[in-house]
Amino acid sequence: MSQLKKNIDLSSYHTFGLPHKTDALFEYESEKELIHFLKTESHKFKNLMPIGSGSNLLFTQTYHGCLLHNRDLHIKVTDRNETYTIVQTGGGLDWDDFVAWTVAQKLYGLENLSLIPGTTGATPVQNIGAYGVEVRSFIKSLEAIEIATGRKYTFSNADCRFGYRDSIFKNEWRNRFVVTSVIYQLLNAPQFNVNYGSLKQEIDRLGSLNQENVRKAVINIRNSKLPDPDVTGNAGSFFKNPVVTQTTASKLLEQFPAMPNYPAEDSSVKLAAGWLIDQCGLKGYQTQKGAGIHDKQALVLINKGAKNGKDILELARYVQARVKSQFGIELEPEATIL
Ligand code: EPU
Repeated sequence: MSQLKKNIDLSSYHTFGLPHKTDALFEYESEKELIHFLKTESHKFKNLMPIGSGSNLLFTQTYHGCLLHNRDLHIKVTDRNETYTIVQTGGGLDWDDFVAWTVAQKLYGLENLSLIPGTTGATPVQNIGAYGVEVRSFIKSLEAIEIATGRKYTFSNADCRFGYRDSIFKNEWRNRFVVTSVIYQLLNAPQFNVNYGSLKQEIDRLGSLNQENVRKAVINIRNSKLPDPDVTGNAGSFFKNPVVTQTTASKLLEQFPAMPNYPAEDSSVKLAAGWLIDQCGLKGYQTQKGAGIHDKQALVLINKGAKNGKDILELARYVQARVKSQFGIELEPEATIL
């Protein structure tokens, strides 16, 4: 059953856990309920915006509008051929519950993406990725409802224009559609990707290379580096890893030979924002107002008792200024600031 809630506290609707409010929040369990709401009631609200589990959002004030919260949790196998099994999920399904399900079904591909916070409907929006894998490799298509009209669309993988932590839904089509369902294309046989530094080591420590151990290793590494949002409010990596030209990277490497750098698209170079912030001596830093930088991974901003998202934003701006003055690099937030 769908529900419209007014003037509610958002603490439990986003992983920073800040007590900002929203004018309205519409919760729905099926595409049909959402379409009905958009066609009959939505004209009463401004700023309609979809949210999943709020694991990539920083609220800094009351949200004057209506948030559309997906609670459609269905999983359905829709097709299977020699190579792939096609699985459709409701966009409100918890991502890691889904990854656990794929492992139980012996469907391969998503194990490196274990324990990433969020819902399946949010995964294409920022093309989630970890340990050498991005979700775009396993998305066949998705279904979305246009907010202004309530009309349903199906988009292919190519339509989504995926990039590093990016898709058309984060740019031209920001807040134009609600992703109601994602259709994944999963491998029937394993094709493990364990080249990421510490992953191979952790799998060796656990024993043999199999899907359960890849999932376990990823979970162990994440737990050792990243704060649990149920305990300490955070939004994962707060900044994107900056992508620079080869010339810029070479100049920086002359000065900082230990700087991590990875080849990226179009012969550019990706740097590690966490390393840059760490080099500024900011790991574990905390402000008087309760905003902090995680002591095991400097890319993660944390809530250490802040009551206002502006205090986290202030720290983010300070981090950007320090990295800019030390390395000449502009960090771009990965989290959406509202
Ligand atoms: N590093 C430091 N100090 C730090 C943090 C990192 O020196 O405080 C160094 C590390 O030693 C390593 C390099 O920086 O040499 C990269 O660090 P890490 O391997 O932890 O990965 P990352 O680039 O910081 C990215 C993703 C994470 C993802 C990991 C693993 C982005 C913005 N972040 O982090 O994603 O889990 O790789 O694949 O791409 C997220 O998006 O919320 C997220 C957590």
